[in-house]
Amino acid sequence: MKKKTILVTCAFPYSNGPIHLGHLLEHIQADIWVRYRKMKGEEVLFMSSDDSHGAAIMLKAIDLDMDPSKMIQKMHKEHKEDLLKFSISHDIYCSTNDLENKNITQKIYLILKKRGYIKKKIVSQLYDSEKKFFLPDRFVKGNCPNCLSPDQYGDNCEICGVVYNSTDLLHPRSILSQSPLKIKKTKHIFLILSKFQKKLFEWINCMPFSQSVKNKSIEWISKGLKDWDISRDDPYFGFKIPEEKRKYFYVWLDATIGYIASSRTLFKKRKISFQRFWKNNSEDLLFHFIGKDIIYFHTLFWPSILEGIKYRKPNNIFVHGHLTVDGQKMSKSKGNFISANSYLKHFDSDYLRYYFASKLSSKFEDVNFNLTDFSNKINKELINKIINLASRNASFIKKYFCNYLSKKLDNMFLYQKFIKESKKIEQSFISLNFNSAVKRICFLSDLANKYVEMCSPWKIDPKLENKKMHEICSTGINLFKILMTYLSPILPKIAERSSNFLNYSFHHDWNSLNNPLLNHKINDFKSLASRIDLNGKIFLKED
Ligand code: MSP
Ligand code: ZN
Repeated sequence: MKKKTILVTCAFPYSNGPIHLGHLLEHIQADIWVRYRKMKGEEVLFMSSDDSHGAAIMLKAIDLDMDPSKMIQKMHKEHKEDLLKFSISHDIYCSTNDLENKNITQKIYLILKKRGYIKKKIVSQLYDSEKKFFLPDRFVKGNCPNCLSPDQYGDNCEICGVVYNSTDLLHPRSILSQSPLKIKKTKHIFLILSKFQKKLFEWINCMPFSQSVKNKSIEWISKGLKDWDISRDDPYFGFKIPEEKRKYFYVWLDATIGYIASSRTLFKKRKISFQRFWKNNSEDLLFHFIGKDIIYFHTLFWPSILEGIKYRKPNNIFVHGHLTVDGQKMSKSKGNFISANSYLKHFDSDYLRYYFASKLSSKFEDVNFNLTDFSNKINKELINKIINLASRNASFIKKYFCNYLSKKLDNMFLYQKFIKESKKIEQSFISLNFNSAVKRICFLSDLANKYVEMCSPWKIDPKLENKKMHEICSTGINLFKILMTYLSPILPKIAERSSNFLNYSFHHDWNSLNNPLLNHKINDFKSLASRIDLNGKIFLKED
């Protein structure tokens, strides 16, 4: 029987800004999971894409005085490069503006229309007469209709928390032109979500979502699903709606359909059956990684589209919390925004992967980035406990044994104990509790270091107890090999360097754990990672 194809996705970063540490939290989480499953021999495909449409992108292009198509192309190249610098092992990274996505989105829309899931309604929208377009909520400010606070956005009030329509704002004005806005009527196209409500409810109920994701989704659905506005008026940067004039698909429609389109491009390259994967009741597996802010789109809107076209639905949706910096929401205006590139000016990409792994669990709690905490984790755990285990033993192996490991280990009991932990560590990887995998690995590294301290090879006279010293240091190196195997989904670059040092490609194969390296020649130890010196690195802000 053919192996199941496992398709893993990350939500698509918008093309109007650089990859930042928040995006990386998601891509690193998914990448660790994918690498682990690949090491176990599973057929995993990993993909993401740029989300290249929408008002925010159109307005950004106007701001930069650039053609939006040129801007998203430039951004796509930068995003791909940035993600690669953090060893994110996507099998494909598309753009929602790709032709494949245009064709599929238009086709899907026509199917939904034919099946009676689409309707048209006249809506009132805020219109900027100076710029000559309808303004999205985020570009409108005015007084809260509830508490009258000034300067509130078009969707909700930051002072009293009430949620409203932008047309309810008092004295609405455009944040672009500052001019007052008019309410104008226009015809919009809607997906009738209530038609999917019953099926969706059943589906959510039997999904293995975390309890909080399930509860939230059920709470929303129980209130009844309103029709979803999937159209926007000209000018808009997106795909034209077939059989309509001057109407475009709302960005979130072709963004989610982008999951189908990107997979189609990838499957063509890999000669995988599209039909087999996407058919209803497919045995292949589909997993999405997303942030907590976009649950609604993924547990309600996306499965409704799939239901409407009779395609398979996801097997799970993994939701992570947000990245905060020093306890605050990351934002340019707060001055605590950290892009992928500004991070890389100071630190190694694997350090961020380690730091995030040590904090990520299966719950969607926020993850905080703090520089002192970060450098302590890297210096005190990764360098002092794990990397040093290799360096302190390697020096003896080189000096007295021409880089050959002994024929037998001094402490097979300890080696076995390390292997026994693998089941629990695997469980932590598969359940996305990376923090507990890191804890266990650190605990083992403490045991290994205690063992080396206790045996103190530096106190042994190599002339008198040559064999003893050889076997102790070879045990130390072999324990390091196990730790690095466990860490390799988290630290691909350091694992690669460790693999060169050990002269053994251990990290591609979890199953090599049982075989210690005996009578095996290793290479000279070269620094695998260096300590963080925080002097002068207090500011990680954008230049
Ligand atoms: N384009 C949509 C997703 C469409 S998926 C079909 C989007 N883009 S985004 O750029 O705003 O966010 C992309 C992903 O990054 C989302 O899962 C989002 O939750 C995540 N993050 C963006 N900022 C984040 C933090 N500060 N912290 C953690 N993740 C956050 O939403
Ligand atoms: Zn208010």
